[in-house]
Amino acid sequence: MPDLDRLSSLLVHQAEACGRLGSPMYEALLRRAAQQLAVTGPLRDVLAAHADAPGPAATGLRLLGTVHRLVLERRAGDLALYYPSVGGRFTLDAAWPALLDVLANHPAEVADGMRRPPQTNEVGRAAALVGGLLRVLRPDPMPLRLYELGASAGLNLRAEQFRYVSRSGVWGPSDSPVQLQAAWTGTSTPLGTAMQVVDRRGCDPDPLDPTSTEGRLVLTSYVWPDQPRRLERLRGALEIAARVPAEVTRQPAADFVARMHLLDDHVTVLWHSVMWQYLDADEQDVVTGQVRRMSQQASLGAPFVYLSLEPGRRADGVDHEFLVLVETWPVGERQVLGVAQPHGLPVQWEC
Ligand SMILES: C[S@@+](CC[C@H](N)C(=O)[O-])C[C@H]1O[C@@H](n2cnc3c(N)ncnc32)[C@H](O)[C@@H]1O
Repeated sequence: MPDLDRLSSLLVHQAEACGRLGSPMYEALLRRAAQQLAVTGPLRDVLAAHADAPGPAATGLRLLGTVHRLVLERRAGDLALYYPSVGGRFTLDAAWPALLDVLANHPAEVADGMRRPPQTNEVGRAAALVGGLLRVLRPDPMPLRLYELGASAGLNLRAEQFRYVSRSGVWGPSDSPVQLQAAWTGTSTPLGTAMQVVDRRGCDPDPLDPTSTEGRLVLTSYVWPDQPRRLERLRGALEIAARVPAEVTRQPAADFVARMHLLDDHVTVLWHSVMWQYLDADEQDVVTGQVRRMSQQASLGAPFVYLSLEPGRRADGVDHEFLVLVETWPVGERQVLGVAQPHGLPVQWEC
């Protein structure tokens, strides 16, 4: 017998998180789903099959991502009228029966979508990565080799092609299709550095191809439909990805870093955002060991930068924050540069 009470509390938990992260639409839909689990029908049929999935499986977000995909494919009938991502206007009481119709009319697609964990690639997190890099590079750096762990679709491997706008100034091409407004607050960012990226590579066990229709659809379906700025950033980054190549290989982080090396007359940058929690302790140790190996090879002619945006605590007992951390070799020290929001913007710089 599936434990529907447990599932209902997980849905409420996800609803609260969506509310905190700026999606009143998903908060309302997930709260309604939690209430309606007791009612016999398509919602209960779909969710009961996943009632025992662990919390991180994000059952509610899998369901809503699957439905959003059908909306984007124009296969969801009247439900599209209530989805802002396709020009609709959300009202819970009108959307709810239309959503139940979609679940009843597309059982195979819904069952298929429920098997897939939500996968995003947050363009806003580039504000933390590029802002962090600007803090540690010399004003006239050598050409950069950019490497990313858990790169998803590799959109942030093109991060120097985005425009960063803050009260203290702007950085990046003015005509970029990605305009990150109010990207940075706090300590001012050095804006005089130009970056020439000559190599862009990443890894992910489940990479998405941002130049394919399928990849674009998957990425868009997991962005919450009432978040126009996130959708706009994604669309802009997809446009850039179509003309700026970057390679994301199907590999876990440990295998990828094991093959990395530094190169003379280049700055090698290894970065990652919101992926460390997916590595088990052994894989984290391997990656840390490989970073140490490369740090020992670094020299003034082949410097190495390790930069991350990951949730963590500065000390035991204090709250989680999304910390921007950097370490540079052969000169530098490990330091917290600032704190970002879960989807990136804004980044509050501390040094
Ligand atoms: C929350 S997403 C973040 C994606 C991207 N870094 C961003 O910030 O938009 C986490 C990513 O980590 C990837 N991932 C999971 N296990 C991994 C592993 N062992 N090595 C590398 N990446 C992994 C997932 O496939 C997913 O693309």
